[in-house]
Amino acid sequence: MDLASIRRAYKRYAGMYDVVFGAVMNPGRKLAVHTANKKPNQRVLEVGVGTGLALPLYRRDIKVVGIDVSPEMLTRAREKVAEEGLSNIEQLLEMDAENLTFSDASFDTVIAMYVASVVPHPRRLMEEMCRVCKPEGDIIIVNHFTSVGGPLRAVEFLINPLSKTLGWRPEFELRPLLDGAGIEVKAIRPAYPTPMFKVIHCRNAPARAARPQAVGQAYAGMDGAVLARADGRRSRG
Ligand SMILES: C[S@@+](CC[C@H](N)C(=O)[O-])C[C@H]1O[C@@H](n2cnc3c(N)ncnc32)[C@H](O)[C@@H]1O
Repeated sequence: MDLASIRRAYKRYAGMYDVVFGAVMNPGRKLAVHTANKKPNQRVLEVGVGTGLALPLYRRDIKVVGIDVSPEMLTRAREKVAEEGLSNIEQLLEMDAENLTFSDASFDTVIAMYVASVVPHPRRLMEEMCRVCKPEGDIIIVNHFTSVGGPLRAVEFLINPLSKTLGWRPEFELRPLLDGAGIEVKAIRPAYPTPMFKVIHCRNAPARAARPQAVGQAYAGMDGAVLARADGRRSRG
């Protein structure tokens, strides 16, 4: 995956995105934003905001900034904000999630929905999300992670070589994304009725220098996804 192929893919998707990826991925969006909505009067960054499908879900006392690398997806998001009169959406900016221009600790909560398996360097995304999130702030990720087995696993394997055309990686492991990021995993919830999508709710480190190096035990509640171990073998959480 590289930024040019991502931009190409989402330029293609923009016009039909809401129809194809709207309803099926809404349970994950709703659960993630519901988690964020528990804290009033905060400032949220949504990375990879896309066409802004989640924007109407935020409570109106939450100020939201959205960023994305696809101008076409952002155009749709801006239309939604105007049509629905979402005055709490502060800004929608064209920006690379791996090189955010915000200062450290600018946001109370940072959310990435269906983005982690799209960006070229998912660990770099995590580092940036942690950097711009306040110490002990909330980091929320929604994504599909590699299945343990069954027909879905076979499909992931078969279509993985098409990642660049699809605009996302069908095979995507959770543990390499989080291990060493220094954040505490508070909860991993399947987004029923589409449990292949998981909502990962994390707490940012108290202070950047003090971040722990492992979050291994926090995977215990995760069903149905393969976790890659440091030794390269796979294990269930
Ligand atoms: C699968 S869509 C998800 C959009 C939205 N979050 C949703 O729930 O529908 C992935 C989005 O991530 C964006 N994206 C991919 N790589 C990015 C990057 N490096 N920086 C910012 N946005 C990126 C794409 O342009 C696309 O809009």
